[in-house]
Amino acid sequence: MRILFIGDVYGKLGRQMIDEHLARLKKHYHPTLTIINAENAAHGKGITEKIYKQLMEQGADVITMGNHTWDNREIFEFIDRAHKLVRPANFPEGTAGVGFRIVQINQWKVGIVNLQGRVFLPPLDDPFSKAESIIKEIRKETPIIFVDFHAETTSEKIALGWHLDGRVSAVVGTHTHVQTADERIFPKGTAYLTDVGMTGPYDGIIGVQRETVIRRFLTQMPARFESETGAAQLSAVVIDIDESTGSAKKIERCLINPDHPFLK
Ligand SMILES: [Fe+2]
Repeated sequence: MRILFIGDVYGKLGRQMIDEHLARLKKHYHPTLTIINAENAAHGKGITEKIYKQLMEQGADVITMGNHTWDNREIFEFIDRAHKLVRPANFPEGTAGVGFRIVQINQWKVGIVNLQGRVFLPPLDDPFSKAESIIKEIRKETPIIFVDFHAETTSEKIALGWHLDGRVSAVVGTHTHVQTADERIFPKGTAYLTDVGMTGPYDGIIGVQRETVIRRFLTQMPARFESETGAAQLSAVVIDIDESTGSAKKIERCLINPDHPFLK
């Protein structure tokens, strides 16, 4: 089976890229399952129910989140009925929503886990031990497990990748908004990519209006961040998995932007 994962959809431009390209990507890659990280989908901060439903209609099977999960207050109203949404699993016990889901796709069950890093991010529960307990749970039902690790540093992500090697099908990173070129399959069969990258403004600074960010670096004064306009990008990864073992067979990055046009 094949998983298409699209990295951090950011604001209107990100949503437009999904609208413009998801059907084409599906036609090209024929994924069995499509997962989208949408923690920045509503103006760069959080997600609304309308956007959640729109992404599902456009072809997402599961939505993952991250440190901006709660930024749009609407989520508290709809998270309980958003049956295909997964927020980081290592929030404290009792937090709204769920940190993993097992979905049925054709004849296969797939576990989707979302975790958040703790380096340069708020101090949540330990993502490493949380991953272990969740994986134990999911493996009772299926060996096909996909992990979106929403984290800032490359070291924390690579550490989790190696730590889970052979126990999950894939560990891919999100959050930095910059795609890395280190895709590989670890020796025991886990596909890995440090960061999938972002889907949204191409000419901003990780999505934000570049003038505002540069001014903030120059002056150290607080500034209101707005999304950059103009050119857009889409960042994704495609992973092939052996259904019987859960081992990854292939991992391929995908980047669509004015410098990397896709299927012109
Ligand atoms: Fe994030």
